[in-house]
Amino acid sequence: MAKKREKTSEKVSEDFADFDGIVHPEQKPLDDEHELSLRPRSMGEFLGQKQMKENLSVFIEAAKKRNESLDHLFLIGPPGLGKTTLAQVVAHELGSEFKVTSAPALDKPKDLAGILTTVTAKTVFFIDEIHRLKPAIEEMLYIAMEDYELDWIIGQGPSARTIRIPIQPFTLVGATTKAGNVSSPLISRFGITCRFSFYDEKDMEAIVRRSSGILKVQIDDDAAALLARSARGTPRVVNRLLRRIRDFAQIRNSPVISSEVVAEGLKRLEIDSLGLERHDREILRIIIERYNGGPVGAETLAISIGESVDTLEDYYEPYLIQAGLIQRTPRGRVVTALAYEHLNLKPGNDAGLLF
Ligand SMILES: Nc1ncnc2c1ncn2[C@@H]1O[C@H](COP(=O)(O)OP(=O)(O)OP(=O)(O)O)[C@@H](O)[C@H]1O
Ligand SMILES: [Mg+2]
Repeated sequence: MAKKREKTSEKVSEDFADFDGIVHPEQKPLDDEHELSLRPRSMGEFLGQKQMKENLSVFIEAAKKRNESLDHLFLIGPPGLGKTTLAQVVAHELGSEFKVTSAPALDKPKDLAGILTTVTAKTVFFIDEIHRLKPAIEEMLYIAMEDYELDWIIGQGPSARTIRIPIQPFTLVGATTKAGNVSSPLISRFGITCRFSFYDEKDMEAIVRRSSGILKVQIDDDAAALLARSARGTPRVVNRLLRRIRDFAQIRNSPVISSEVVAEGLKRLEIDSLGLERHDREILRIIIERYNGGPVGAETLAISIGESVDTLEDYYEPYLIQAGLIQRTPRGRVVTALAYEHLNLKPGNDAGLLF
């Protein structure tokens, strides 16, 4: 599902305002089209996340042997790591129908009832952004997940009564970037939880090779490795970078993507050795220069960079934290020594350029 970045209307740091980064893991409208061809269909094509995949394959096999629907599945992880992809892969492996919606699209209980009353047995029903479900819908989902029934109220006032409508056993796959915002009664109804981690370099390289094969572009091994290292452990980002680098290679008339082409492309796109783009460096710089390295609260920081707290927490922070550049403390965000080093800045009251 394409998510929009909400800009806060408050003070927006000028140099930050209209820069739309390429490494941003958030899905952009055109990605859908592009990603369709690159999106893995089967478990074999779904690269990396080995442990998670192995366990899931066992659960799928067992459910198939018992001729039952797979237990409900909860997918947690930052954007672009493959939650939607995995949900589709699971449906494919089960040989089941795949239905998809997102929590904000479920406005009234009847929206959910409309879907659930038409699902066939063992359907994989995917709800994206499940942390955004409305309470009335969530309540309805509890009973549906547990008993495969829906509570439905007929009539109004004193004559109103509730009837239970049976539905086909289905598998709910709920995905979220914000597990902390999902209520515990809902979490407890999922039998299987998959937590995505950022992909390591080898897996990222494998993804680059697979994608370049599909896009029919030739890429040298060291070029693939460089690209894999610069894409913040995120398949969506690496696929997007690969397409841009392919453009640069085409303009240079290079039939093969070499590491020079990748290096030049990354430079032009202002992506550094850690895979950070301008936006990320600005966040670090603002914490250092305006807040003395932190701690700074998420709200304050979000306003300073002209983004919503959600965008800051979902899209930027996970990788900055993973890369060891910032830390979340009870008092707010703090940059680490590595961040100073990376930006060539000196810690201290008057943080300034070393040279
Ligand atoms: N394990 C994988 N192997 C190969 N390619 C992958 C893998 N996971 C994801 N991709 C690629 O990355 C793209 C983004 O993945 P996907 O849309 O599933 O992410 P997501 O976690 O659902 O993100 P969001 O939170 O923004 O919805 C896919 O279209 C696919 O091309
Ligand atoms: Mg998704």
